[in-house]
Amino acid sequence: MTTRTPLMAGNWKMNLDWKQGLALVEELGETLKDVDTTRVETVVLPPFVDLRTVQVAVDAGRLPLAYGAQDLSAHESGAYTGEVSGPMLTALGCTYVAVGHSERRQYHGEDEAVTNAKVKAAFAAGLTPILCVGEPLEERQAGTHVTYTLAQLEGGIEGLDAAQAKSIVIAYEPVWAIGTGEVATPDDAQEVCAAIREALRALHGDEVADAVRVLYGGSVKSSNVVELMDKADVDGALVGGASLKAEEFAKIAGYQ
Ligand code: G3P
Repeated sequence: MTTRTPLMAGNWKMNLDWKQGLALVEELGETLKDVDTTRVETVVLPPFVDLRTVQVAVDAGRLPLAYGAQDLSAHESGAYTGEVSGPMLTALGCTYVAVGHSERRQYHGEDEAVTNAKVKAAFAAGLTPILCVGEPLEERQAGTHVTYTLAQLEGGIEGLDAAQAKSIVIAYEPVWAIGTGEVATPDDAQEVCAAIREALRALHGDEVADAVRVLYGGSVKSSNVVELMDKADVDGALVGGASLKAEEFAKIAGYQ
């Protein structure tokens, strides 16, 4: 059970065009009425092309929903065809951005240096990065999952000052649990989330370690969120597939 404000973030991935995204956000406006959003923060991460629509819908409905992007450029502006910068996201009212998702690492070759540059670009634009880390199946089977994940963490946050380190969100997403229906056990999630917090403690001290929200991601659903959230170092969830249905996402957000 966390003392930090829990954060439930829905990563829509490459799903829902702007009309479908609008429908989901409007529905979330209704379903989230049953959730005490003063006790849990809810965030959606739509595709870039949906963000303006989400901004208008959230503002118009004064919805208790923050939003952000699934990625950003490491650069602020200029000749980077196809990229979207942090300042562009801030101008759309985004407050969060996912960085280093395993799908970015796997399909776009994003390494620690790129991820670290993107984390810094997010902070420079006033966004809160949700830094994603987590091991593939081979590392889990070899028993090296903690070491592997902490190396990603340390690479991702290198060079941050204490204020930045304190406000970052870390999402532990074991690759083998993403989109597979195979959720980590609460004890497995706790093991790595606690190790992440201890690594933050060693690097930045108690104040930072005790403030940072560490999320779990990988096949989270309303049927398994309660037991995950019961763990001391799990402060929320980064939800993929189950965030595409308003009722299910609201159930996850309202897990208490
Ligand atoms: O970022 C969320 C994620 O990768 C987990 O996806 O579909 O297993 O909830 P899913």
